[in-house]
Amino acid sequence: MNSPHIPVLLNEVLEGFSHFDSTDEPILLDCTLGFGGHSAALLQRYKALKIIACDQDEQALDFCKKRFKAELESGKITLYKSNFASIIKRIKGLRISGILADIGVSSLQLDSSERGFGLSANSLDMRMDKTAPKSAKEIVNEYSEGRLEQIFSEFGELKMAAKIAAKIIAARAKSPINTAKELADIIGGERIKGRNVSIAKLVFQALRIEVNDELGVLKSLLSTLKDLRPSGARVAIIDFHSLEDRIIKESFRAWSSDCVCDPSAMRCECGGGHALGKIITKKPITPSADELRANPRSSCAKMRIFEFK
Ligand SMILES: C[S@@+](CC[C@H](N)C(=O)[O-])C[C@H]1O[C@@H](n2cnc3c(N)ncnc32)[C@H](O)[C@@H]1O
Repeated sequence: MNSPHIPVLLNEVLEGFSHFDSTDEPILLDCTLGFGGHSAALLQRYKALKIIACDQDEQALDFCKKRFKAELESGKITLYKSNFASIIKRIKGLRISGILADIGVSSLQLDSSERGFGLSANSLDMRMDKTAPKSAKEIVNEYSEGRLEQIFSEFGELKMAAKIAAKIIAARAKSPINTAKELADIIGGERIKGRNVSIAKLVFQALRIEVNDELGVLKSLLSTLKDLRPSGARVAIIDFHSLEDRIIKESFRAWSSDCVCDPSAMRCECGGGHALGKIITKKPITPSADELRANPRSSCAKMRIFEFK
């Protein structure tokens, strides 16, 4: 079946779960099923594997219901339309040995004009879950100038956040902003000095994060995993920007730390021995030159893996 999305770091994901070879009846939770590229390859490589998978995007799930028809019938895979922040709470009591989260947007989401993710889209939506209450259009047309500035500054890390918020307020006072294309024209084509990225792209990143509460659900996933501590499980997370990467890096570092004393404490008082497991990837795994050539969209991908005791 032709997939509209190329899975990133595919070989590295397969290798990352090599402990499935020595696990009795391994179960993987695929938090971001998308078009099933990672899940299909994992099922192919690890014959005893079973997968529980979710996505909040109905379009992705519809595709996967067809792609995995046989595996659904045989019970090799179970699919849920859900946010991963919810599904993760339901794995309590299951013997999960792998958790995969590939937390970007899919190529189909980026390329479909009606989804409103791309700079030239004819809508202004950006919801991964189309039933979610708030789209980018509401945010751009209804948020206060201060709130817009805050989003662009925090989630786009833009120094000129105030200027962009002011431009949007001035434009929407004349007429509502209805499409991504209109918004991109209002922001203009200026690029960030010293970086190969436009201001508009970072504004869009910021809006997407706000629409889908991307940092909130990532923190929720990590916090639930910390509470559940699935014994022997590996957690592999692929991220596409530094805000997410920082959250993952800091969580894994804290989880692997023997000492849980306040960093400002003069000396350790907790007695040590608190590590929940170990970091498998000392440095994040990034795409090879071959992958970058074949799929330039993989360029920002970073994967970090942690293994619970
Ligand atoms: C980069 S794609 C995943 C591609 C997939 N690994 C593949 O091989 O086809 C990301 C997918 O995750 C989904 N997604 C992102 N955040 C999510 C969340 N919080 N809960 C559920 N699904 C999410 C998106 O809807 C999208 O389909």
